[in-house]
Amino acid sequence: MIKIAVLASGRGSNMAAIMEAIERGDIDGEIKIVLSDKENAGALEKATAKGIENHWVNPKSFADRDSYEQELLRLIGECDLICLAGYMKILGEGFIANAPCPIMNIHPALLPAFPGLHGQRQAVEYGVKIAGCTVHFVDTGLDSGPIILQAAVNVLDDDTEETLAARILLEEHKIYPQAVKEFARGELIVDGRIVKRRSFQ
Ligand code: GAR
Repeated sequence: MIKIAVLASGRGSNMAAIMEAIERGDIDGEIKIVLSDKENAGALEKATAKGIENHWVNPKSFADRDSYEQELLRLIGECDLICLAGYMKILGEGFIANAPCPIMNIHPALLPAFPGLHGQRQAVEYGVKIAGCTVHFVDTGLDSGPIILQAAVNVLDDDTEETLAARILLEEHKIYPQAVKEFARGELIVDGRIVKRRSFQ
C-alpha cells in the first residue's frame, strides 16, 4: 500500500476522486496528509471529514519559498507519492530535489498546450476544438514533466471557460485516480520524458 501526500489550494474535488478510488479498493494506498497554502481550502475540510491529518501552511509566515517548502517536506515526511490536486503555487527546485518520492500533477489542458494558470480559459480564447486534461509527473519546468494520461473534451461553439472547465473536470476525476492506481501497482516506467506501462506477463 502506498502512502500519498496531497497538496491542494482549493475545493479538492480531484483529491476527493482519489479518496473515493481508495475507498472502492481501486487504488492500493492511503492519503496520509493533506497540506494547503490556503486557510479556507475545501480540500482541508474534506480531509478533516475523513479523519486525515491536514494543515494550512501559510506561505506568508515564512521568510522565503525555500523555508516554506522545507516545512511542507518536514510535514510530509516519508511517503511514496505526492499528488498536486489543484495546488496553485509553483514548486521550487529545492522541493523537487528533496522530495522523498515522485510528484504528480493534474492540469486542465492537453499539455504541452496551455500550461500555467487558467488552462480552460486559454483553450476557449485560442479557439481550439479539442481541449482536455493531463496527469503528469512534475519536473522543474512549468507543467512540463513526463505525461502519464490525458483525456480529450470537445469544445462547443457556446462554451465559456466555466462550461468547458466543468466538462474537463469530469475527465480529471477519471484520469487522476487511474494514474495513481497505475503508479501504486508499479505499472509506470519513466524512460526520459516518455511514460510507458510495464507488462506483467
Ligand atoms: C482542477 O481543474 C485542476 O486541474 C486545476 O485546478 C482545479 C482544481 O480543482 N489545476 C491547475 O490549474 C494547476 N495548474 P479541485 O480543487 O476541485 O481538484
